Amino acid sequence: MSRTETARGACIRPYRPADREALYAVCLATGDDGEDATHLFRDGNLLGHRYVGPYLDLEPELSFTLEDDVGACGYVLGTDDSVRFYRRFEHEWLPALRANLPPAPAGGAAKDEDERLLAELHAPLITLPRELEAYPAHLHIDILPRAQGRGYGRQMVATLLTALVERGACGVHLGVGQRNARAQGFYRALGFTPIEAQRDEPGALLLGRRLP
Ligand SMILES: CC(C)(COP(=O)(O)OP(=O)(O)OC[C@H]1O[C@@H](n2cnc3c(N)ncnc32)[C@H](O)[C@@H]1OP(=O)(O)O)[C@@H](O)C(=O)NCCC(=O)NCCS
Repeated sequence: MSRTETARGACIRPYRPADREALYAVCLATGDDGEDATHLFRDGNLLGHRYVGPYLDLEPELSFTLEDDVGACGYVLGTDDSVRFYRRFEHEWLPALRANLPPAPAGGAAKDEDERLLAELHAPLITLPRELEAYPAHLHIDILPRAQGRGYGRQMVATLLTALVERGACGVHLGVGQRNARAQGFYRALGFTPIEAQRDEPGALLLGRRLP
């Protein structure tokens, strides 16, 4: 796919490896239920390792960057096949990362967000829809505050959904924080509705949309 010029000046284009650091920064700046999570972490890369890096490496053709005149300011990432993606995440991507991570916190309860994410990266809790065949794809989207509320999110999701349909996906799901009312309103406006998860994740809602 080539770049899509938007009406308001930013462009949506395929991800490039040089975007990586900026996209990790977007993840951290929006990682506390849509708000800046920087103050919650000592290691600012942990969130990106969970929600950005695996997609850039395992699904580069389904990774799109939003770029304005300041630089990369958002992403939409996804996969057409969540089961295949998570299998590769656990067996290919995470082992290489773990070689450079501190060990998982001993004894269960995490003391802070760094420990919670470390535990997650050592033993990921994957949430899938109960009706997985109906919603096999999934996505993540985050945009820096300076570019929010200008229609880019709608266009970015449309860009990814088009790519998912081209790959034959019949439905897509995503997780959203129960406290993130803004994102819930956004997804509702884009046709996503609540669906049942295979397991209840505290604080999260699972939403889905059939395709095309
Ligand atoms: C959530 C997010 C991706 C939305 O992208 P955006 O560019 O701000 O949204 P858009 O301007 O494209 O809005 C698209 C539509 O959603 C609607 N919408 C947005 N917020 C809404 C809300 N709180 N309630 C109802 N509708 C809402 C808009 O009115 C718009 O509808 P329209 O096109 O019919 O006018 C973006 O704000 C963001 O990244 N926020 C921080 C990170 C985050 O929360 N990510 C999601 C984690 S699950």
